[in-house]
Amino acid sequence: MRDFNQTTITEAVLDRFAATPDPRLREIMQSLTRHLHDFARDVQLTIPEWERAVGFLTRTGQMCDDKRQEFILLSDTLGLSMLIDAINHPTEEGATQTTVLGPFYVDNPPVRPDGADISGGEAGEPMWIDGQVTDAAGTPLAGSTVDVWQSDDDGYYDVQKPGAEADLRARFVTDAEGRFRLWSILPSAYPIPDDGPVGDMLKATGRHPWRPAHVHFMIAAEGFQTLVTHLFIDGDTYLDSDAVFGVKDSLIVAPVRQPAGEGPGGRRLDADWYRLDHRFGLSKPR
Ligand code: BEZ
Ligand code: FE
Repeated sequence: MRDFNQTTITEAVLDRFAATPDPRLREIMQSLTRHLHDFARDVQLTIPEWERAVGFLTRTGQMCDDKRQEFILLSDTLGLSMLIDAINHPTEEGATQTTVLGPFYVDNPPVRPDGADISGGEAGEPMWIDGQVTDAAGTPLAGSTVDVWQSDDDGYYDVQKPGAEADLRARFVTDAEGRFRLWSILPSAYPIPDDGPVGDMLKATGRHPWRPAHVHFMIAAEGFQTLVTHLFIDGDTYLDSDAVFGVKDSLIVAPVRQPAGEGPGGRRLDADWYRLDHRFGLSKPR
């Protein structure tokens, strides 16, 4: 076949993939071809626009290294990460809903004892988290690992600060009742890294880069799906316009303000502090 036109080119490419030995790869490549060609026809893509897109994707790749993953950020800001999350994590009664992992997770964070303060002396309003990990029916899961990470009061993660120690991140192991407890600080809203091509895309389209205040959790227990989620703080300005579309109603929590005085673990607090109690439900593998 030759002399392809706007329509026959699609059939020719589909045909070229028809002998792909792996049926799943065949399905993906043929569907990608259909959607990509339909998209170009739909917007009648011009050559300068195609060149600009190639330049954008090239810069996106060039921005990636072992600390920065601009392609995942692109996926996040296009809503693709949350679409894939929705496809792969259907809501299950009693199980906590999932959301994006984000770029600031670090494997094997330092294990801290029950009740530890992970704030590393960072400024901020103290928050006590009293969590429980259970299965979807509410049965406690002892010995689960709970990785927690969040930004500081200025909206930065430890990994964004040159030379910083592991700060506002830790791993806890749940006790016989599936519980874990820690001191941290109230998180604040922050902008996603917007000094690269994804930031240029947000600016060009009139979008802001902000995420509402949240604490990240990754919870793993033998025989269950690992839960990747956040808890978002109620009342945040950006709950309805999260730059990465990660907010779910069931993940919005309202830490309760407590008066100064003695807090959990015998800690003396000179100012008001916050308490957050939350149960996390894990799903069985599908
Ligand atoms: C985060 O919450 O850490 C995050 C998630 C997606 C993109 C950028 C940051
Ligand atoms: Fe985050």
